[in-house]
Amino acid sequence: MKLSKKDFLSMRDYSREELDAILKLCAEQKPLARAFRLPQSHPGRVLACIFHKPSLRTRLSFEIAIRQLGGSSLFITDAEIKIGSREAPKDVAKVLSRYVDGIMIRTFDQGLVEDLARYADVPVINGLTDLLHPCQVLGDVFTAVERFGSIEGKKVVFVGDGNNVARSWLEAAAKFGFKFVLAAPEGFQIDDSFVASVRAGRAATEYEWVADPREAVRGADVVYADVWTSMGQEAEKERRLKAFKSYQINDDLMKLAGRGAIFMHCLPAHRGEEVTDSVIDGPQSVVYEEAENRLHIQRAIIALLVPGE
Ligand code: CP
Ligand code: NVA
Repeated sequence: MKLSKKDFLSMRDYSREELDAILKLCAEQKPLARAFRLPQSHPGRVLACIFHKPSLRTRLSFEIAIRQLGGSSLFITDAEIKIGSREAPKDVAKVLSRYVDGIMIRTFDQGLVEDLARYADVPVINGLTDLLHPCQVLGDVFTAVERFGSIEGKKVVFVGDGNNVARSWLEAAAKFGFKFVLAAPEGFQIDDSFVASVRAGRAATEYEWVADPREAVRGADVVYADVWTSMGQEAEKERRLKAFKSYQINDDLMKLAGRGAIFMHCLPAHRGEEVTDSVIDGPQSVVYEEAENRLHIQRAIIALLVPGE
């Protein structure tokens, strides 16, 4: 299947069928990758990976994914380009399009990613902004589907800040038809206008904000955590530590989840803050499977978006 959009900026840009096609290719290629038998579909193709924030998983998995398909990658930080100050996004996008076959960017402003996509002639992939983290959550959906067979009708409870990862989960709920619950203190929930914009695309989206984490996780199939202070919010760390103090995922909280519930975390984790060692290292945790699946899902996204042989 050919995807209808040039870029991968958010899950809402794609139909359920297209997202399923990415998941299907991911499932087909995962065992091939593990056996070193992937098709060399992208020889000579280059993926530029631009990072304005730190990364372990996103950087490594994108750079490895394109290489596994026979291509290569370039790692670029803002020290080199200085998009917006040294050079306009339009010029960066136009010039890069003459050199590389795809652009993956992790930055602060979703608007910058959209600008690059507007002007680039090659695919632009969102590797995290302050608004969204779509590759993460599509990989997480893949992990949940591997575990449960399907994510439809399941209950996913995100305990923590209504941040970029939480917003992408809400977009995923609208596409895949599962119930998404955010357990967050007042003031840290997903903003109403974002919720309304997701519901405008699919009115039946099952979303609930619940302040009490114990009430929220009852019967959950997935209990999900992320850091309380995201990259770029470091100045708010003390305020956030206080606000989220009673939102730690520990054994007592996990006991309230449904039978067979799994614990997920996008990582990096602040052990002892949003999650205890006993949970992240416990039998319900699938965090390293999730991390591996970033590689497989992003390789599928690249394979479907970047023209190969
Ligand atoms: N989960 C994730 O995106 O990890 P990195 O910040 O290390 O890329
Ligand atoms: N919400 C986190 C996700 C890290 C992968 C952040 O933006 O820092």
